[in-house]
Amino acid sequence: VGSGPVALGLVGCGAIGQVHAAGLQELAEEGLCRPVVAADPDARARSALSRNCQFERWASEPLEVVLDPQVEAVMIASPTWTHPQLVSACLQARKPVFCEKPLATSFADVVELVREAEASGVVAQVGFHNRFHPLLNHLRSLVGSGAHGRPMAYSVRDDQFWPTGSVVPGHSSWRSSRHQAGGGALLEHSIHSADLLGWIFGPVRRVFGFSRNVFGFDVEDAACVSIEHDSGVIGSLTTVFNSVQGREERRFEVFFEKAAVEVTTDFLVGAREDSFSVQEPGSPPASLDVAELRQRFFDSIGLRGRSFAFYTYTSDRSFLEAVAAGSQASPNFGDGLAAHALVEASYRSMRSGQPVVLEELGQR
Ligand SMILES: NC(=O)c1ccc[n+]([C@@H]2O[C@H](COP(=O)([O-])OP(=O)(O)OC[C@H]3O[C@@H](n4cnc5c(N)ncnc54)[C@H](O)[C@@H]3O)[C@@H](O)[C@H]2O)c1
Repeated sequence: VGSGPVALGLVGCGAIGQVHAAGLQELAEEGLCRPVVAADPDARARSALSRNCQFERWASEPLEVVLDPQVEAVMIASPTWTHPQLVSACLQARKPVFCEKPLATSFADVVELVREAEASGVVAQVGFHNRFHPLLNHLRSLVGSGAHGRPMAYSVRDDQFWPTGSVVPGHSSWRSSRHQAGGGALLEHSIHSADLLGWIFGPVRRVFGFSRNVFGFDVEDAACVSIEHDSGVIGSLTTVFNSVQGREERRFEVFFEKAAVEVTTDFLVGAREDSFSVQEPGSPPASLDVAELRQRFFDSIGLRGRSFAFYTYTSDRSFLEAVAAGSQASPNFGDGLAAHALVEASYRSMRSGQPVVLEELGQR
């Protein structure tokens, strides 16, 4: 990669591609990237994305982006089933790659992609943008500092509307197909939480899961997983796809020896749902100033004075910085694998009706 802005290609101009594009336009204006070419087989998606970011060229064939000699690094934001072929093509072309989560529909394919990425030494990042959320960073620092004693247990809830056309008219429908999505609410949405849990509480030892397919698709739309970490922390993750729109994305309740903490987050920067409350012995719950926490975190990662709407801006910026410096990306494909392992072990537990130790997956 030469000096100057990173020449970037984007594959997939749908919902999350358009969100990335809004941040890429900012990053281009800051001189960190040059949006060269974006591809999507659907002309309407290309046209929608062009309103958020002015790429120099447009293509209908995704591999054109990877093979374009002007493109130095690639972002993949197409449906999950398309990821492995595109990621492998990037690694073979020795082009740094950012791939949306999950890395693939099957755990075996993720294992293979991580092997390929590590063997190539190419910069490879996964789209876990929640790691750049100020409130989740603050929660992680409370766990790490021991300020409220040891963390004991937690409960995490994710819920959102079923992201498929027969529930939300006009929505794309690949997520309700096991073949195209690999799994339902737990894999597609809550792999973010699976990542956050490992990042905050350390490696997961074993899980016990249950699921339901209430809407009748061939993937789960309700799942509940009991989780035990190597550290001894225990917790539960509940995830739901139903038909209620406009919910905040995620709520954590964490119980420390000397505090009960509740954190609610959404994917929009400064979302009105964001909240952080801490209750210590003998006191009522105290609401932390979320705007101040946000500012302090953004200052700490060098973003003072920047304005952006989505946390994808922060993760994409971090990818571009890793590409420019030739340094390791974070979160990387190994993090993608660790989160997928929690999901895969949960699916195996749901099938067998027994707890599953993650070591059984052979990746630890
Ligand atoms: N990090 C996040 O928070 C987040 C949020 C949403 C989606 N995602 C992930 O991003 C990916 C895309 O999701 P989405 O919501 O944008 O889906 P989407 O259905 O809205 O958009 C996908 C786009 O990809 C295009 N496409 C289809 N086949 C393609 C191919 N072979 N090559 C290139 N483009 C192709 C479609 O025409 C469509 O425009 C999925 O893997 C999803 O899990 C991540």
